[in-house]
Amino acid sequence: MAPLMERERVDFLVLGGGVAGLTFALQAVKHGSVLVLTKRQRWEGSTQYAQGGVASVLGPDDDFDLHIQDTLVAGAGLCKRDAVEVTVREGPDRIRWLLSLGLDLDREGDRLHLTREGGHSRRRIAHAKDATGREVERALLAACAAAGIRIVEDQIAIDLVTSGKLGLGGPNRALGAYVLDRATGAIATVSAAVTVLATGGAGKVYLYTPNPDVATGDGIAMAYRAGAAVANMEFFQFHPTCLYHPQAKSYLISEACRGEGGILRNGAGEAFMSRYDPRRELAPRDVVARSIDAEMKRRGDDCAFLDMTHLPKSFLIEHFPNIYATCREFGIDLAVQPIPVVPAAHYLCGGVVTDLLGRTTIPHLYAIGEVSCTGLHGANRLASNSLLEGLVFGWRAAAAAAEELGATSGEAAAVPGWNPGDALAPDEGVVVAHNWDEVRRLMWNYVGIVRTEKRLARAHGRLEMLRAEIRDYYWQYHVTPDLVELRNLADVAMLIVACARQRKESRGLHYVLDTPRADDRWLRDTVLTRGDLE
Ligand code: FAD
Ligand code: SIN
Repeated sequence: MAPLMERERVDFLVLGGGVAGLTFALQAVKHGSVLVLTKRQRWEGSTQYAQGGVASVLGPDDDFDLHIQDTLVAGAGLCKRDAVEVTVREGPDRIRWLLSLGLDLDREGDRLHLTREGGHSRRRIAHAKDATGREVERALLAACAAAGIRIVEDQIAIDLVTSGKLGLGGPNRALGAYVLDRATGAIATVSAAVTVLATGGAGKVYLYTPNPDVATGDGIAMAYRAGAAVANMEFFQFHPTCLYHPQAKSYLISEACRGEGGILRNGAGEAFMSRYDPRRELAPRDVVARSIDAEMKRRGDDCAFLDMTHLPKSFLIEHFPNIYATCREFGIDLAVQPIPVVPAAHYLCGGVVTDLLGRTTIPHLYAIGEVSCTGLHGANRLASNSLLEGLVFGWRAAAAAAEELGATSGEAAAVPGWNPGDALAPDEGVVVAHNWDEVRRLMWNYVGIVRTEKRLARAHGRLEMLRAEIRDYYWQYHVTPDLVELRNLADVAMLIVACARQRKESRGLHYVLDTPRADDRWLRDTVLTRGDLE
């Protein structure tokens, strides 16, 4: 595909090529020109690594009310019922659409095979073995290629262009983005009638995460800086079971392993979950992750163990071929030995506030997928509801955005090119590397699964200093991909800490020792807009 020109003008600018961005692109291209930008290779994002599958009402013993109820229970009182309703009710049609694109899911006779995960009262997770995301991404990319959609790789959006920043008057509107080419360092100005954030999550804000390197929260940071409302950032989901091995980079061990009978054991070999929750291994994720954390701390163990040795080897290889092979690479045969596991930062439930059509609080700016806060997840996401959310909201947003075409036609010409000012060539790469590490480490140590007011205050103080340092560096030197991501990570970390400090209770994924119970006065979102952090 052709590289970006210094100036580009499109109808729909889509930042991100995961399930949400590509779903949007495939619908939007019916109405106008689409440009999809991805930070690295086109497939590189969390979608590519999704394992367990996509949740939807597809089984004969299931119904919408049950899926809605399970989602609401996991969300601990903070889900928006209308967002849950549309996601659950439109889910089966979106999955049929994916199948019509050639998606190859596991089958059992003439039906889809459905697996089970924590918090689900029925088998409702459609999957492609244990690498569902890779198949979803493959099918969507193939459809985009067939539709002639332009995708340009290795492009990192630095900041949104808004009418407010340009001093154009009237309500603050999105006009496009400035984009850095990773290879050449050139900065393009892309103006668009509609700008779509589909930039995924922010797992890299923590030291240990199964998220890919692109998950640095760029969309959330850009939206916040542009003046959009951001909410519920304190609800960062820790996946209970990531491989505990120095070389494994927190490789995920799918929740479907517990769904199919895997048992969690402590260092003494005891199954411990029944002491924490009657739903044991299939309790919602916040409960399981906290239980593992508590059990490790109680015994002083470095990790817990996921035991599947009671399941037939042929079953394990058939259902979990990738997990089986990856564990083998690290010297673990899951048919004969339990897998050492620890929780790691996995999924951001909060994000850029949207309505049911993916519209943010800034006109012509949309947010879809993990970057968004639609109200579906509340205080804790139900497993495998996120691929579904990307599909449903990507689709909905495209329909709404198509109706906006024309509303901004004259303005694109007014967008000026990037102004580097007096920026110098960067000469202190060590500062960027050091600050990256410090942000991730302090988030892990002070803003993890179990929090205290004191640790949150400490994190706040450190982040204030780091952000000031990063801001100085940012304005003095030419932007580089690392610097763009560091600035975003630090902003997102601060948004998480700020929301966490606001919420004076424990709910869902936000657990504070000083206020260990839920308090109904806090049955509301924590919302931040520009200026709230300073
Ligand atoms: P992503 O797929 O993360 O894509 C983000 C895109 O944005 C990428 O193309 C990236 O390059 C681009 N981007 C980011 N920043 C910029 C920028 N500044 N400029 C330009 N482009 C940018 N969910 C489930 O429902 N079921 C599962 O089984 C499941 N398993 C998972 C397993 C793992 C290991 C992980 C990490 C996640 C899993 N999830 C699962 C969560 C789910 O995969 C993600 O929430 C979902 O795929 C996010 O899709 P997305 O389209 O929002 O973003
Ligand atoms: C998994 O397979 O455990 C991941 C599912 C999810 O994050 O939704």
